[in-house]
Amino acid sequence: MSDLRIGIILGSTRPGRVGAQVAEWVLRHGTSRGDARYDLIDLADYDLPHLDEAVPAIRGEYAKDHTKRWASTIAEYDGYVFVTPEYNRSLPGPLKNAIDFVYAEWNNKAAGIVSYGGVVSGARAAEHLRLILGELQIADVRQGVLLSTVTDFENYTVFKEPAPWHVESLDLQLDQLVTWAGALRSVRAAAAA
Ligand SMILES: Cc1cc2nc3c(=O)[nH]c(=O)nc-3n(C[C@H](O)[C@H](O)[C@H](O)COP(=O)(O)O)c2cc1C
Repeated sequence: MSDLRIGIILGSTRPGRVGAQVAEWVLRHGTSRGDARYDLIDLADYDLPHLDEAVPAIRGEYAKDHTKRWASTIAEYDGYVFVTPEYNRSLPGPLKNAIDFVYAEWNNKAAGIVSYGGVVSGARAAEHLRLILGELQIADVRQGVLLSTVTDFENYTVFKEPAPWHVESLDLQLDQLVTWAGALRSVRAAAAA
């Protein structure tokens, strides 16, 4: 197995969230591919407050222990899969807040997006997230995975066995992610030299 590391960021923090089931599927499926080490990064474990750093993250002067802990987690990975629900046509506030907390740790990395929601399967959240990722110098891969709470969940709450086309989409996304995450290592090395 390569030493590439992919962090699966679970973007929903609310009690009763269905996102954990989706993130677990991404983790299981990624791990079964054997092409990288996949880990779950659960935002709920980080207990980040509303952004409380006096200096913008782009300057890299983190004062708070929770920021330093979050930064050291994000720094460990070559790429990410953002697992995001759609809240009011966008991504959840806690996910945006967590993204805003750090900067350099995101730069020149790659990301895929797995979204879920009602009528449009979280597509609007995914598209908003893509806008944000560009600002962080994260290269988001083309392939999305879009899950509907109406058809891919039982009673909007229990994630069903994913349909074959979702598994194909996830595989394609991870193929693209692993390729770009590996390639961007040399960009980071050049930037650090
Ligand atoms: C505050 C809030 C806003 C929501 N807004 C939307 C929305 O705009 N579009 C949509 O398709 N679903 C929307 N939903 C439904 C969620 O996508 C759905 O409840 C999903 O299960 C939430 O993910 P979670 O359970 O992991 O938190 C919203 C849910 C919440 C809690």
